[in-house]
Amino acid sequence: MEKKNIDWSNLGFAYIETEKRFVSNYKDGAWDEGALVTDANIVMNECAGVLQYAQTCFEGLKAYTTEDGKIVTFRPDLNAQRMVDSCKRLEMPVFPADKFVEAVKEVVKANAAYVPPYGSGATLYLRPYMFGSSPVIGVKPADEYQFRIFATPVGPYFKGGAKPITIRVSDVDRAAPNGTGHIKAGLNYAMSLYNIVDAHNKGFDENMYLDPATRTKVEETGGANFLFITKDNKVVTPKSGSILPSITRRSLMVVAEKYLGLEVEEREVYVDELKDFVECGLCGTAAVISPVGKIVNHGEEICYGMEDMGPITKKLYDTLTGIQMGRIEAPEGWIQVIE
Ligand code: PLP
Ligand code: COI
Repeated sequence: MEKKNIDWSNLGFAYIETEKRFVSNYKDGAWDEGALVTDANIVMNECAGVLQYAQTCFEGLKAYTTEDGKIVTFRPDLNAQRMVDSCKRLEMPVFPADKFVEAVKEVVKANAAYVPPYGSGATLYLRPYMFGSSPVIGVKPADEYQFRIFATPVGPYFKGGAKPITIRVSDVDRAAPNGTGHIKAGLNYAMSLYNIVDAHNKGFDENMYLDPATRTKVEETGGANFLFITKDNKVVTPKSGSILPSITRRSLMVVAEKYLGLEVEEREVYVDELKDFVECGLCGTAAVISPVGKIVNHGEEICYGMEDMGPITKKLYDTLTGIQMGRIEAPEGWIQVIE
């Protein structure tokens, strides 16, 4: 298979149309078989549930070329399960987890020419999503749904790759205490657009959201969970019912403990503690681990260093990407090879 003629090393995090996407329709209470199609466009009714009441959720995962030339995906079963949780919360029909994983593999295989080569720094980003496609005018769930997965080759989420970024403590909240912060609903991202544009206009790369009830605890950013490193090399991550359970973060906690022998803590993290940490990173599929060099909390600046990724963050990054790219042996079940 010949790779596409793409300048892999200079890709940003942007959409490039690829050849095949998976589509399955839910009608009369059941999913159809689903198929790979070439048309990237969707035609739907003007009153579709997704267009009126934002009934949609999504996932994000990547396919990688390993050192020995295989194409693999990383823990797609966890994305499948998280989408089940999102669908239940949004009154959408569940797409079976085993079929989700199969469809991911089909899409990767069909677009193998777009999987960036080993060592290019790029990956194939996969975007599974579902939406209410039939008309609804009263506020209620749609009767019909579409589940799709497309693929697009991507580079780093933050410009500059591993360069530390600057974030601000947000005055706008992301998720209510008993709301939808723990699922991957499109509405969580729609509400963050105003705030991310405002942050960028003011020179910040991202927003640090706090717990809306007390505004004293760290939650996450618009698209990644936080990791902090203490002076004595402990890895700390915020615990909250209103943040997205990041697969990258859950994997990094295992990497920290089992591969690097570090102590890990998932607990409430107070804004007042930020100054006591020595490293901070954002972790997610898109972000991988992006080092945070500075947090601006209104008048106060908390600096972790704008030059390089901190040493523990670097070890976590190297081990995780080593596992994903086949240089380091993965825990059982983490890597699924596309045959
Ligand atoms: N938090 C939010 C709000 C996200 O959108 C994402 C991205 O999926 C993450 C965290 C990271 O999750 P994961 O590591 O599963 O990609
Ligand atoms: C991801 O990391 O996959 C995400 O979905 C984050 C972002 C692009 C919203």
